[in-house]
Order: sequence, then C-alpha cells, then structure tokens
Amino acid sequence: MIIAVPKGRIYERFRRFLIMHNIYLYERDRTYMVYTSIKNMKIALVKSIDSYYLVNQGKADIGILGSDILSEYMIFSKPIHFRTLWFFQCGMFFIRKRVLRKSRRFTIATKYKNTVERHLINARVYKMRGSCEIINDLNIADYAVDIVETGKTLQANNLLGLNKIMDIRPVVFGKHRDLIDKFYRNIFA
Ligand code: PRP
Repeated sequence: MIIAVPKGRIYERFRRFLIMHNIYLYERDRTYMVYTSIKNMKIALVKSIDSYYLVNQGKADIGILGSDILSEYMIFSKPIHFRTLWFFQCGMFFIRKRVLRKSRRFTIATKYKNTVERHLINARVYKMRGSCEIINDLNIADYAVDIVETGKTLQANNLLGLNKIMDIRPVVFGKHRDLIDKFYRNIFA
C-alpha cells in the first residue's frame, strides 16, 4: 500500500504518530519514498495537493491531506472516501494587522482564495502561496486568512488572530473504502 503524504507539517506529525504506534520508518536523506515496518506499507512524500492527484490517478492507494486543502479544492464533492485522523489539529484564522489604515480597501491575503470567497463575498483577495504573515512588512493587505497552530508566527509578525474560520485536521482519503479500513487496521492493530 502506498500512502501519499505531504512533506512538512503533516508528515512530521504523521511520522511521530506512527512511531508512537511502534511503526518503524526507514528514512533516507533526500529520498521521497519511506519504507515502514508494516509489510507493503510505504509512504510517498509529495507536495500537498499532489497527494490528491496521485490517489486519483491510481499512483498511490490512499492519501493524507489537511482538511484546509480539501476545503479549498472542494475535493469532498468528488466521489472519494475519507476519514478524519486525530494526530494533528490547528485552525484557519481570520487575521489582521494591529494597526489598520482607514482608507485602505478591504483586502485579504491568503492561499485559501476559494475558501475565503465562500465565506466573505465582498472581500478583495490577494492570492499568495503561503507566508501570508508578511502582510505587515510588505504592506500587501490589512487582513489575512492563514493557519494558526501555536500562534508564534502571528506574534512574531505583530498580527492579531480575530476568529477561527474552521478547525483543521488531517484526513485520510482514497477511492476505495476498503483501503482506508486496511490502513486503520494496520496502524491500530
Ligand atoms: C503555517 C502558516 C503559518 C504557520 C503558523 O505555515 O502559514 O505561517 O504555519 O504556525 P504557528 O501558529 O505554529 O506559528 P506552514 O509552515 O504550513 O507553511 P506556509 O507558510 O507555506 O503555509
């Protein structure tokens, strides 16, 4: 079974979760296929949304993604099966600069353009790929929508988290329910 997992935050937490469940990982520097102590279970480390495309094309059996990405790309509307996992939690927040300019147009910097436009119809959205907390230093917008986990990035960039738009959890998904169940059995057996 090949599991497509985004590199970075999700893999870091998933990795800890597997180790906690006594699953050994055979990782080698700069390689993107991680073998595990479970027979036939391998992890392909990929870029976020590629996890979905690889599963959809049958190159990986199941994938893991944050619910923020699933929401942004409306993958829930496609015929896939999914199950929420609990090894990680954070939130998508509406964020603003501490000091606002009165004359500025209501602009939000975010990588979640679709999600923001679903929630805030009248906002002008400045699309970024990440690191939206730079709005202060680059004077891009007074507001941002981004992920907050510990709140340290907000604090370091002198921003305020106003309200939570949604909780974010990892989600395991696939085209076949039995593969998701098999994954569960492998981990929790
Ligand atoms: C996310 C988010 C913030 C940071 C918040 O970035 O965009 O920058 O985490 O975490 P904190 O509340 O614990 O400080 P990520 O590392 O996922 O990369 P990105 O900036 O490319 O989205």
